[in-house]
Amino acid sequence: MKKTSPQPAKNKFAPLLLKWNNEKNTRQMPWKGEKDPYKIWLSEIILQQTRVEQGLNYYNNFIKTFPDIHKLAKAPDATIFKLWEGLGYYTRCRNLIASAKYISKELKGKFPGTYDDIKALKGVGPYTAAAIASFAFNLPYAVVDGNVFRVLARIFGIATPTDTTEGKKIFTALAEELLDKKQPGLYNQAIMDFGAVICKPTAPLCPQCIFNKSCLAYLTNQVAALPVKEKKITIKKRWFYYLILEYKNETAILQRTAKDIWQDLYEFPMVEAANELTVKKILQTAEKKNWITKNGYELVAVSPLYKQQLSHQLIAGQFIRIQLKKKSLQEKNWIWLTKNKMGKYAFPQFINQYLKEGVQSQVLF
Ligand code: ADE
Repeated sequence: MKKTSPQPAKNKFAPLLLKWNNEKNTRQMPWKGEKDPYKIWLSEIILQQTRVEQGLNYYNNFIKTFPDIHKLAKAPDATIFKLWEGLGYYTRCRNLIASAKYISKELKGKFPGTYDDIKALKGVGPYTAAAIASFAFNLPYAVVDGNVFRVLARIFGIATPTDTTEGKKIFTALAEELLDKKQPGLYNQAIMDFGAVICKPTAPLCPQCIFNKSCLAYLTNQVAALPVKEKKITIKKRWFYYLILEYKNETAILQRTAKDIWQDLYEFPMVEAANELTVKKILQTAEKKNWITKNGYELVAVSPLYKQQLSHQLIAGQFIRIQLKKKSLQEKNWIWLTKNKMGKYAFPQFINQYLKEGVQSQVLF
């Protein structure tokens, strides 16, 4: 007779997980055990697309600067963006500002206390709503994030792709079935921690895992193959050529307003291309735009190519320093700044990198 693997018992899952949490989980994070929904919300928005190690400092800075929702709601947008600088996915920051104003003004600072009202906040999806509802209000909603997909796909041997409607349905139903309804907050934090420290994406600690006698992926040698994703990410390449236009001791910057990456951040006047351009071509384009005039400038320096990898895009950027003999007048949305004022504006990461170190590595003309 063919030997079959034992099916993991669903009713043993939560008790085993909580036993591990109680006895072995040493992971510490400032929002763990936190009950203030404002602080939980803030931590969860930060952690939506950011690793815990990177998010920690941002969380601490936000809480220190804005200890309650009214302080956040009253702050100028630029101050909040400056504090968010470097975290990426700036839509999160815009939604954070909108929700803070809504809760502070319309709800008089009282954070919504039901799953549906929490999920109605801008920037809050099913995952974040379940996290806030369970951590702050002990409501029985199961979180389903990347950690949960991985833990459940492996232990229960589920090969349905997690990024499909069917996959989402199956994993959400299982997560809800497994949830400890009496202590959903503790359980949700435990399963995420378990996914982060034991059932890790690569090199998981299977030999010391409490589920290794019944984990279907472990018993059938499928750990590395699970979870499954259907869609391959396609990466779009974009070239951003920044013109550092200097007139006397001032430089022009402007705000990115389009619905695109880095909306609301600042940058230098920029020529975008779908492939690499020569400096000559970039200067010609700048002339056509009337940013420079034929004999009205001097090329000072060209930086090396900087690269920034985003989830679906690879951005290559280069900085071309130009000394103007006459100020370009035609662009109303440009702000002319002296270098010491730049610190007040939030820039994309690789512009900051260039401002910090790039000036030395550029080729001078
Ligand atoms: N990722 C998102 N929320 C988290 C949390 N509360 N703890 C650990 N990782 C998380």
